[in-house]
Amino acid sequence: MEEPALLDELGTVTGLRVLDLGCGDAAIGPVLLHAGCHSYLGLDGSVAMVEAGNRALHGMSGRVELVDIEDFSAPPSSFDLIVSRLAFHHVEDLAPVLAACRASLTPGGRIVFTVVHPVLTSYDPGVRGPRGNWIVDDYFVQGARERSWLGGTVTWFHRTIEDYVAALTSSGFVLTSLRECAPRVDRFDGEVEELARRRRVPLFLLLAGRCG
Ligand SMILES: C[S@@+](CC[C@H](N)C(=O)[O-])C[C@H]1O[C@@H](n2cnc3c(N)ncnc32)[C@H](O)[C@@H]1O
Repeated sequence: MEEPALLDELGTVTGLRVLDLGCGDAAIGPVLLHAGCHSYLGLDGSVAMVEAGNRALHGMSGRVELVDIEDFSAPPSSFDLIVSRLAFHHVEDLAPVLAACRASLTPGGRIVFTVVHPVLTSYDPGVRGPRGNWIVDDYFVQGARERSWLGGTVTWFHRTIEDYVAALTSSGFVLTSLRECAPRVDRFDGEVEELARRRRVPLFLLLAGRCG
């Protein structure tokens, strides 16, 4: 559900210098390079992800480096497009990160990012397996939420949709798109029950901005 919305919003990438923050195994790197982007730089805070990403990009004009998103900075006009998929909800203070992004983009440059939707980051009753219901609670309380994740614990930082928009616009971006990544029928191959389940609550939020 996140991927089709993201690819729509990325649009044409021909000739663009792309930065991917919290790139994981850089799965989108080869996709963008094959689509004609000039270069791809992924940054991630996990050694294992950096290794996986560099393996995936072997022989291409892309690479991944070990950098904490919160420490990122680059000279003006270093990039034309910044993408970040499902990483910014791991960051406590997003405004300085977005300001660093803004400072590193070329005039007219763009940012497109996705996060776990605030409906889901707001509260987690700890239910395992397919859920019958979802509880939204403390929605207007920003901050850390501990989550059980793949046998461990992760920290997500909850923000409202309005908080995300404010962080983007106060960093000097003009909001160009806000999407909630509704499931697309053509992606469900006749799986009617799964489609109905995925229509119950939003999973992902996407925001896009252009340097103002
Ligand atoms: C859910 S994964 C998404 C990976 C990739 N963007 C994708 O969509 O496949 C989140 C990634 O963000 C990275 N990450 C989280 N917090 C980070 C931080 N502060 N600095 C750098 N990377 C971070 C994690 O290591 C992980 O690879």
